[in-house]
Amino acid sequence: MNPNPLLKVENVSVRFGGLIAVNQVSFDVHQGELLGLIGPNGAGKTTMLRAITGVVHATEGEVYLSGAPLVGLPIERRIRQGMSLSQQLVKPLRNMSLLENVALAAGSHKTASPLRALTHVSNQAELALGMQMLEKVGIADRANQMPGTQPLGILKRLELARALALKPQLFLLDEPLAGLNSSEARALANTIADIHQGGMTVVLIEHNLSEVMRLCQRLVVLDNGKKIGDGVPREVMGDPVVQAAYLGGDTLASDQSNQSKEAQS
Ligand SMILES: Nc1ncnc2c1ncn2[C@@H]1O[C@H](COP(=O)(O)OP(=O)(O)OP(=O)(O)O)[C@@H](O)[C@H]1O
Ligand SMILES: [Mg+2]
Repeated sequence: MNPNPLLKVENVSVRFGGLIAVNQVSFDVHQGELLGLIGPNGAGKTTMLRAITGVVHATEGEVYLSGAPLVGLPIERRIRQGMSLSQQLVKPLRNMSLLENVALAAGSHKTASPLRALTHVSNQAELALGMQMLEKVGIADRANQMPGTQPLGILKRLELARALALKPQLFLLDEPLAGLNSSEARALANTIADIHQGGMTVVLIEHNLSEVMRLCQRLVVLDNGKKIGDGVPREVMGDPVVQAAYLGGDTLASDQSNQSKEAQS
């Protein structure tokens, strides 16, 4: 393994007023890795990703991408340096086809102004790249359909395609499987595994622990803002400290409520 990590998170804390959402967390992500970032609800996972992408400011600590420090840089600069975040809430532009949505993302890194990207009609190269990304996530057959008519599983794939169109070196995913039933979740997890096997370095936040265990090569566990585990999935999940964090939180309960929702549908 290359000794220089692609992403280095060093002693990062994020405070919201009196609350320490992320508390002196350090971890590395190596080139080509698929790392699971897990922990109970409210553990600080999303805040950690936001501190990496610059959506929130780290109160202390440093983040390095390929050795270059990122703290203090705006989001667009971090994206240009090679990271892309796929959000949990899927919000495509409703008046554009799936392909146009992805092509827009493909072009947006060229301009700092989202408005300019919008008014600038997608060129052939962007449309071609958009099509490639739709193929990668398995929804190319719907390229010309509108987002409003798509089920959640397709919108989630669109969100992956949109994030991939930025051609990241590091792909950050926040709960991509949330809201899907178990067969849809498994299928989308397989797509993420394919993207990873194509050479992408991935950080995956996910509550679906069976898919996490199936996919991830290493896990970092947060609880109450602190890192409480970092290692091979089986060992990490076997750690009594990690098990206690899950049992103390309501994540297992919310997993069960998802399953019962599934059973009803
Ligand atoms: N913008 C914010 N302002 C104030 N508090 C926040 C903000 N964002 C998050 N928090 C708080 O920080 C803590 C960590 O939240 P975060 O969303 O990072 O957890 P999480 O691990 O992603 O949880 P979940 O699994 O439920 O998504 C929580 O106590 C949350 O209420
Ligand atoms: Mg979250």
